[in-house]
Amino acid sequence: MNDLIGNYYSYYEEVEENPEFGIILFNSRPSFESEVGWFTNLYRAVLSGDAFVRVAEEDGHVVGICDVRRLRPGTELSHTGDLGIVIKEKYRDRGIGRELMQSVIEASKGKLEILILSVFTNNKRAYTLYRKLGFVEYGRRPLAIKRGERYFDETLMYLRL
Ligand SMILES: CC(C)(COP(=O)(O)OP(=O)(O)OC[C@H]1O[C@@H](n2cnc3c(N)ncnc32)[C@H](O)[C@@H]1OP(=O)(O)O)[C@@H](O)C(=O)NCCC(=O)NCCS
Repeated sequence: MNDLIGNYYSYYEEVEENPEFGIILFNSRPSFESEVGWFTNLYRAVLSGDAFVRVAEEDGHVVGICDVRRLRPGTELSHTGDLGIVIKEKYRDRGIGRELMQSVIEASKGKLEILILSVFTNNKRAYTLYRKLGFVEYGRRPLAIKRGERYFDETLMYLRL
């Protein structure tokens, strides 16, 4: 748990260095307690079949995570899962992201029918990877993300499993 939270916190440092960093973050770093709550909920969702998660490790430390969360379980949206992924900077472009996504897509088959995700429109690497894995663009939300005084458009994609 500590390592998962540490990995998440490291992205708040990265965004300081790279204002274009492509993950939607809180305006300020959430507390450790709230992160424990978030990961506990995720773990519960995995146990109930409402989430699928893959974690990449190197030397026993978390270097990336890919998760799919079922949208509002028990509703007319629950055939769809929302996918998120992030890999630590040093470990990008080594095929880890592709591997985690392929594994989570396989795990979702038979349990979900559609995966959705959103990506900063300027995030060419992520967009290219998603296209290669079969995701299709279905729209764009202009100015969807406001980071400080800067806006980013968001591209919306889906995959029919
Ligand atoms: C996006 C991310 C998850 C991809 O994971 P990764 O492990 O770096 O990706 P992989 O190495 O598996 O694959 C990247 C692919 O994009 C390609 N690529 C890399 N840079 C690229 C660029 N600038 N433009 C287009 N394609 C690019 C690579 O060639 C590779 O394709 P291939 O598998 O056919 O060789 C990871 O880079 C990351 O966490 N980035 C920062 C956070 C982020 O943007 N998360 C996504 C939020 S939607």
